[in-house]
Amino acid sequence: MTRKLFVTTALPYANANFHIGHIMEYTQADIWVRYQRMQGQQVHFVCADDAHGAPIMIAAEKAGKTPQQFVADIAAGRKTYLDGFHISFDNWHSTDGAENHELSREVYLALRRNELIEVKTIEQFFDPEKAMFLPDRFIKGECPKCGAKDQYGDSCEVCGAVYTPTELKNPFSVLTGATPVMKSSEHYFFKLSDPRCVSFLEQWTQTPGRLQTEVLNKIKEWFTKDDEGKGGLGDWDISRDAPYFGIEIPDAPGKYFYVWLDAPIGYLASLKNYLGKLGQDFDAYMADPSVEQVHFIGKDITYFHTLFWPAMLHFSGRKTPNHVYVHGFLTVNNGEKMSKSRGTGLDPLKYLKLGLNAEWLRYYLAAKLNSKVEDIDFNPEDFVARVNSDLVGKYINIASRAAGFLSKRFGGHLSGDLGVEGRALLDGLRAQAGAIAELYEEREFGKALREIMLLADRVNEYVDQNKPWELAKLEGKDAVLHDVCSVCIEAFRLLSIYLKPVLPALVAKVEAFLRVEPMQFADAARALGAHQIGNYEHLMQRVDLKMVEALFEAPPAPKVVPGGEDLAPEIKIDDFGKVDLRIAKILKAEHVEGSDKLLRLTLDVGEGRTRNVFSGIKSAYQPEQLEGKLTVMVANLAPRKMKFGLSEGMVLAASHADEKAHPGIFVLEPFPGAQPGMRVR
Ligand code: MSP
Ligand code: ZN
Repeated sequence: MTRKLFVTTALPYANANFHIGHIMEYTQADIWVRYQRMQGQQVHFVCADDAHGAPIMIAAEKAGKTPQQFVADIAAGRKTYLDGFHISFDNWHSTDGAENHELSREVYLALRRNELIEVKTIEQFFDPEKAMFLPDRFIKGECPKCGAKDQYGDSCEVCGAVYTPTELKNPFSVLTGATPVMKSSEHYFFKLSDPRCVSFLEQWTQTPGRLQTEVLNKIKEWFTKDDEGKGGLGDWDISRDAPYFGIEIPDAPGKYFYVWLDAPIGYLASLKNYLGKLGQDFDAYMADPSVEQVHFIGKDITYFHTLFWPAMLHFSGRKTPNHVYVHGFLTVNNGEKMSKSRGTGLDPLKYLKLGLNAEWLRYYLAAKLNSKVEDIDFNPEDFVARVNSDLVGKYINIASRAAGFLSKRFGGHLSGDLGVEGRALLDGLRAQAGAIAELYEEREFGKALREIMLLADRVNEYVDQNKPWELAKLEGKDAVLHDVCSVCIEAFRLLSIYLKPVLPALVAKVEAFLRVEPMQFADAARALGAHQIGNYEHLMQRVDLKMVEALFEAPPAPKVVPGGEDLAPEIKIDDFGKVDLRIAKILKAEHVEGSDKLLRLTLDVGEGRTRNVFSGIKSAYQPEQLEGKLTVMVANLAPRKMKFGLSEGMVLAASHADEKAHPGIFVLEPFPGAQPGMRVR
């Protein structure tokens, strides 16, 4: 019977382009999906941008865009990556789409009808200047343990201590620099501690075959209470106060769903959007008990997908996931775990732009992937070795060794006979179809590729033993040569079927060369027979290590900078340290009688007194544009007596070397959060 599979990958935050970790996740899911399609299963493979939340709202504001525009701009960049790496999503949507607004409200209302929503008043840090409650990440201060400055509200990067934002000393808002105040507000909670939820989740998570063993062990820890009765499942705070970019909670003006409530519902929203395009009924599809719902995710978001998500679904009367397949993290060059937002090391877009073949990467990732929650590392030498010696050296080579003789000597006709030895070889290859299929099904891609390469080894041994290049020179050996080369092509076809989930574009070329319809897994069982093939064109290059090195090279520093000025001679960090740069607040800015260049600035550098500085920026700014702003000044410059008075420092501004041709002076302004007197280093 045809399986009906509803498959997703995690919905990426719409605040940045994809990094290589995303591409790895999509590649893993895509291989599995392509394998299923090759088995004739019906698959709906969907994803979407995770659009909501405070960080995206704030990033949009900084970029001077509406959140909708900001998210749309990120979404516009997705296709290049997805097409470039042959990721075959059927649909890409957004959690800000109409379907998600509607479905999120439906899920919530059903939970409320089930008496699983509770309102509690909680106290939280509030930024009085921005009139906004602050997420932990937007509060900084001094670590309560070690006193380190400039630490986030949840943990200290210096000593590793974990705490709540209220424990920080001298806390400030990252957004405005203001001192946050405690303010209470009503929050909506999903009562996960309700005995119904606890017993449902115990049963759901422990259903055999649903989750990986490692994931199950982790979940058991989360369920367990310690000796003091702490831990265990707590109620989940699902609301955030305005201003927030998200979905408004029904009957709760000014309250929005926390992004992690509506994000997974985005899986359903994207599917609904897709089925809508096909003219099919979403509710009917989801009501079909034979539909299998499968999520591919990274290990960092396991909690959300194995506890919150199934509980949300179950208690709103919906079907729950059949599988949540968790993968580890990809590191590059044994590098540190890639930052979620930055992504370091291997830029997937640069990879494509440099002309590296996307299927080299797919092959390499597949070779490293398994069904466990293990981190994997991208290593350049290893990458080159696997691609060149296995993919090209073992597999592609088979076709190139045989195809020339076939077209030159036999008009591209395959022999129908193949010989005893050849038939035995091919039977051996066919016999592995089931085992390889099972490895794909189990996401043991590394093992599958090892099996396939062992088969390629057998074929190459057969070629080495039969030496078609010698047969070609011998009189009366045409029939043998014909058989040997035909065996090679048939073997190549079988290996191509086995590799197709990993190498879809390459195998499409193989299909054109073999003149066959798009191959299914079942095509391994039959033989091509006396068939006419096309002309062989080289299918895949070897990787040049230089290309991979170029991938990791930082772009060369331009010698001539856009400002039209050569770089000053190199200095040592100690030289730089002699310049004491400080954040200064411009308290006052005034015209200077008798000067057409200068403004007089009164600055607060956090010294408990003010400074007087003359600055040659009159041509660029009105005094009122500057007042109240922060800037950067050289605070240890020897005071200078000028015609108009004493100048006690210098404010930093950018300008072009040729000010006449490129007019403009641009005073520096720090990011929000800096405070007068802070040193710039
Ligand atoms: N928006 C949430 C997911 C919501 S799902 C309803 C999110 N987004 S994310 O962009 O930060 O991450 C998306 C996926 O990429 C997650 O599954 C995450 O684990 C995965 N990865 C992020 N960095 C990764 C690596 N370095 N390696 C492999 N996968 C990584 O979390
Ligand atoms: Zn600390």
